[in-house]
Formats: sequence, C-alpha cells, structure tokens
Amino acid sequence: MHIKGIVFRKSLMSKALLTIVLFVSSLLFSVNVHGQSAQAEANFAVCRACHTIGGGKLVGPDLKGVTEKMDEAWLIKFIQNSQSLVQAGDPEAVKIFEEYNKIPMPPHNYSDEQVKDILLYIKNGGKVAGAAETVTGVEETHVEKKAIETGGEQLVAEGKREDIRHMSVTFIVMVVIIVIALVDLFITKIIRYKWIHTVLILIALAVISEIVFREAAALGRQQYYQPDQPIWFSHKVHAGQNRIDCEYCHFTADKSMYAGIPPVKVCMNCHSQVKKGKITGKKEIAKIYAALKNNKPIEWVKVHNLPDHVYFNHAQHVKVGKVKCQSCHGHVEKMDQIIQVNTLSMGWCMDCHRTRNIDISNKFYDKYTKLHDKIKNGEIVKATVIDIGGEECSQCHY
Ligand code: HEC
Ligand code: HEC
Ligand code: HEC
Ligand code: HEC
Ligand code: HEC
Ligand code: HEC
Repeated sequence: MHIKGIVFRKSLMSKALLTIVLFVSSLLFSVNVHGQSAQAEANFAVCRACHTIGGGKLVGPDLKGVTEKMDEAWLIKFIQNSQSLVQAGDPEAVKIFEEYNKIPMPPHNYSDEQVKDILLYIKNGGKVAGAAETVTGVEETHVEKKAIETGGEQLVAEGKREDIRHMSVTFIVMVVIIVIALVDLFITKIIRYKWIHTVLILIALAVISEIVFREAAALGRQQYYQPDQPIWFSHKVHAGQNRIDCEYCHFTADKSMYAGIPPVKVCMNCHSQVKKGKITGKKEIAKIYAALKNNKPIEWVKVHNLPDHVYFNHAQHVKVGKVKCQSCHGHVEKMDQIIQVNTLSMGWCMDCHRTRNIDISNKFYDKYTKLHDKIKNGEIVKATVIDIGGEECSQCHY
C-alpha cells in the first residue's frame, strides 16, 4: 500500500540514522585514557535519575567527591544494596539515609567490577575520558524563546481560555441581535427604518463568520487541552523539585518517533521505596501499586495529538536537531498537570523551521556536507531547517 510504503521508508531511514549515530558515538566513547570502560557511562544512566556529579543534589546527594570521602569497599556495598547496610546499622549508611528523608536508594544488580568502573567515572567528574564535548552550537530563535517563555505559564493558558469564553458569548449575542432584528422587521415593527435592521444583521453576520472562520481553522486542534489523569502525577514534583531527567521516564524520545509514556515498572524504580508524597500522602501512589497488582497499565489520557496524516519524529528533533523539550511543550517542569501550550498547527511547525538554524556539524547526510561547503565558500551565512527540506510537503505528510 502506498501509505505503508512511506511509513516503512521513514522507519528505515530513522533506523539507518540511529545506526550512524550509535556508530559515531561508540567511536567517540571507546577512547579510554583513564581506565574506565565505555560501559561506565551507560551503567551510570540509572543513577542519573537521582544523582548528579557536581550539579547539586537531586533525589539523592551530589556524588562529586564521594570517592574521596568514603572508601571503595563501603561504596561497593552501598551501591549494590544500601538498605542491607542501613539495616545492619552501619553508622555512615544510617546517617545519610536519615539525612535524605529516609528515601531508600534502590539496590543495583552490578558486579564489584562494574561498580568500580562507575566509581572511576564519578571520580573523573562524570566525563568519559577522551570523549569530545558535545558542542551544540545551536541558538534558540526568538520564536522558540518566546514559546519557552510563554509556554507552560498557567496564567497564559487561563487568559486564552477566557478569550475562548468571550468568543462564545460574542457568538450568542450576535445570534440574538439577528433574531431580534428579524422579529422586529416582520412582526413587532418598533424600529421604523428598515435599513437599521439590515445594517444590524450584516454586522452580526460579519462577526459570526469571523468567529466561525477562526474556529474552523483551529478545528481538531487542542491548544490548552488539559485533561485530568487517572493518577495525580506531577511533573513539578518529579522533573522540577526532584530534577529527574525527562529522558529517564520518556526514554525513547531520543531514539524513536515517540517520546512514550513510562510503564509502571519505571515508577516502581523509585516507588517500591517512596510510599507517600508531601501533597497527596499515600492516596495517589497507592494507585501505582494497584495497577501493578492487577497487572493493568495505567490509562493515561494523551494530551498532544497530531492528525493521522502528519508525520512527526521525536528523535529527529531531540537527538539530531537538539531541540529542547521545552521549546515545544513549554515549562513542563513547572506543571502539576500537563497542558498543551502550543497549537501544533502546520504554521507552528513552519515558524520554527523557517527561523531555526540547524547544526551543520551533524554531518550525517550528504545535504549537511553540501551546506557546510556553501557556508565555507561564503555562499550562504547560515542554514535553517528549510534548507534541508523542512518545508517539503512529503516530509511531514504521509
Ligand atoms: C531512586 C533514586 C536513586 C537511584 C536510582 C540511585 N540512588 Fe544513590 N542515593 C539515593 C539516595 C536517596 C541516597 C541517600 C541515601 C539513602 O537515602 O539511602 C543515595 C546515596 C548514594 C551514595 C552515598 C552518597 C554519600 O554521600 O555517602 C552513593 C555513593 C550513591 N547513592 C551512588 C549511586 C549510584 C552509583 C547509583 C547508580 C548505580 C545510584 N546511587 C542510584 C537515591 C538513588
Ligand atoms: C519539535 C517539537 C517537539 C519537541 C522538541 C519535543 N516534542 Fe514531544 N511532542 C511533540 C508533538 C508534536 C507531539 C504529538 C505527537 C503525535 O501526536 O504524534 C508530542 C508528543 C509527546 C508525548 C506524548 C507521547 C508521544 O510520544 O506521542 C510525550 C510524552 C512527549 N512529547 C514528550 C517529550 C519530551 C520528554 C521531549 C524532550 C526529550 C519532547 N517531547 C520533545 C513535539 C515535540
Ligand atoms: C526517579 C525516581 C522516581 C520515579 C521514576 C517516579 N517517582 Fe513519583 N516520586 C518520587 C519522589 C522523590 C517523590 C516525592 C516524595 C515526597 O514529596 O516526599 C514522588 C512523588 C510521587 C507522587 C506523590 C506526589 C505528592 O507530592 O503527593 C505520586 C502520585 C507519584 N510520585 C507518582 C509517580 C508515577 C505514577 C510514576 C511513574 C510514571 C513515578 N511517580 C515515578 C520519585 C520518583
Ligand atoms: C517520573 C517520570 C517522568 C518524568 C521525569 C517526566 N515525565 Fe513527562 N510524563 C510522565 C507520565 C507518567 C506522563 C503521563 C501523565 C501526564 O500526562 O501527566 C507524562 C506526560 C508527559 C507529556 C504529555 C504527553 C501527552 O499525553 O501528550 C509531556 C509533553 C511530557 N510528559 C514531557 C516531559 C518533559 C518535557 C519532562 C522533563 C522536563 C518530563 N516529561 C519528565 C512521566 C514523566
Ligand atoms: C522548535 C522548533 C521546531 C518545531 C516547533 C518543529 N520542528 Fe521540525 N525540525 C526542527 C529542527 C531543528 C529540525 C532539523 C533536524 C535536523 O538537523 O535534521 C527539524 C526537522 C524536521 C523534519 C525533517 C526535515 C528534513 O528534511 O530532514 C521533519 C519531517 C519535521 N521537522 C517535522 C516537524 C513537524 C511535523 C512539526 C510540527 C508538528 C515540527 N517539525 C515542528 C525544529 C522544529
Ligand atoms: C513542517 C511540517 C509540515 C510541512 C512541511 C507541511 N505540513 Fe501540512 N500540516 C502539518 C501539520 C502539523 C498539520 C496539522 C495542522 C492542524 O491540525 O491544524 C498539517 C495540515 C495540513 C493540511 C490539512 C489542513 C487542516 O486544516 O487539517 C493540509 C491540506 C496540508 N497540511 C497540506 C500541506 C501541503 C500542500 C504542504 C506542502 C506545501 C504541507 N502541508 C507541508 C505539517 C506540515
């Protein structure tokens, strides 16, 4: 089938792209000057949800300098199973456990060697020795900055909802004016001059068609859509206060078309231990356990929806384009409840594609190399997404 064919080609393309990305990064990361293996960074990924190295505390303490503070044997035991140390009454383990509000660190099924490797990675300040710093060199455009600034502010959303309410009130008033004018024209005949009826009706019709036109253009769009969710899950608590990385939960965002919603298993990485919250106590977290017990996935309501004829790929934007989640979704880390802050209209996609410079150092495709040469020759000064086809219908439409 025609449509299937295109889907297939796109997925092949993104697979090829991913392979190249993986290949290039494995080249970068295989350099191994200080002895830790390439695997250390990958193994540290689970820790990153709760720890930084030199970036301040998250759910757990900042791990910078921990390898100097504690001896290796203790660290190995603690990382493999901190609770066994706490329960055995180890004074250091008990102290830090109390200090962190008795949020227990989950056990990790790593061998001594793997933990040593991670410790070396921590000691190196979280850098893989020899790896090139990822320089993005991508500037946010003013459109994007504006989107980030206004996005997520609940107030803006409230304001827009007011607008919508005003619009429906206006609509009703106009209909009433037409009805009254018609009734007077044919029945009551209070106003003597017929042109007054005509003018009133024409104005009302003009206003109504303006409203209908605007509404029709927005049909199927759901800006400021904010459905209630089955569990009171707060991004503010998780991504904001506890600074959990977006991609810890939405772990496919940089690898696939979909960002995906985390399965219950991911919640349990922490909630097997964290049993109550400051705001909702045990009530909401209990729903996670119920879902697990009944072996039923949590039925989250999807907030962002593009029509079926549009192709949108997260990995292309997040990984290749290095576009921040917030550029499109607003300040999610400040939201207790997710709200769609952008229209997701074709114009919205285009506004960014027209203005946003792309990172030419991504030399994955031929088009990039050609653009690179053009910039070097002084033919063009910069390249936007348009230059790589971001305005071609077939790029976004099946
Ligand atoms: C779910 C969150 C979470 C994850 C995941 C996690 N930790 Fe922790 N970690 C904590 C908390 C909370 C503490 C504070 C001690 C406690 O409450 O038990 C801690 C304490 C530590 C300490 C002791 C720090 C000190 O100052 O003494 C080390 C070392 C540590 N974690 C390393 C790791 C490593 C390595 C990983 C990954 C393999 C990891 N953690 C994964 C939450 C976590
Ligand atoms: C260029 C804009 C853009 C960026 C950047 C972006 N998203 Fe999205 N996101 C969208 C659009 C558009 C949809 C709706 C997709 C659909 O309905 O097919 C969406 C949907 C989602 C969904 C719903 C589930 C899904 O996969 O469709 C989640 C979750 C999500 N995004 C999270 C993220 C996270 C986390 C990041 C950053 C790592 C991110 N997004 C970056 C535009 C973006
Ligand atoms: C990386 C660790 C981590 C993961 C993963 C995680 N949480 Fe949490 N969660 C926390 C922490 C820490 C708190 C805050 C506890 C507190 O405020 O005392 C919390 C609090 C909560 C609360 C209570 C909020 C409140 O303040 O009342 C709910 C509900 C919740 N989480 C649901 C979820 C769901 C659903 C998932 C899976 C989609 C999930 N969590 C995944 C760490 C995590
Ligand atoms: C602890 C896990 C967790 C973290 C961390 C997290 N999310 Fe989510 N996210 C979820 C869950 C669960 C949902 C579904 C419930 C909801 O919509 O609130 C969700 C929904 C979303 C949606 C709406 C998807 C839709 O239905 O259209 C977006 C957008 C999103 N997240 C973006 C982000 C961004 C951006 C970050 C980082 C700032 C982030 N998330 C961090 C768990 C998480
Ligand atoms: C905030 C900015 C931004 C928004 C909004 C945005 N994009 Fe993009 N898009 C990018 C960037 C940057 C790239 C270039 C990635 C790269 O370097 O390959 C891109 C590339 C693409 C490509 C690949 C183009 C090509 O020729 O390789 C498609 C398809 C695409 N976007 C679709 C969409 C759709 C559909 C929407 C709206 C639902 C959208 N984008 C919204 C920034 C954005
Ligand atoms: C950057 C991505 C992108 C490109 C390029 C693009 N479109 Fe779209 N298009 C969209 C999105 C997103 C929607 C959904 C809009 C909405 O819901 O309002 C859409 C909707 C449409 C619609 C349906 C209108 C509607 O109101 O539902 C038509 C027709 C259309 N596009 C035609 C085109 C044509 C023709 C081209 C080439 C000149 C093109 N598009 C290029 C993203 C794109």
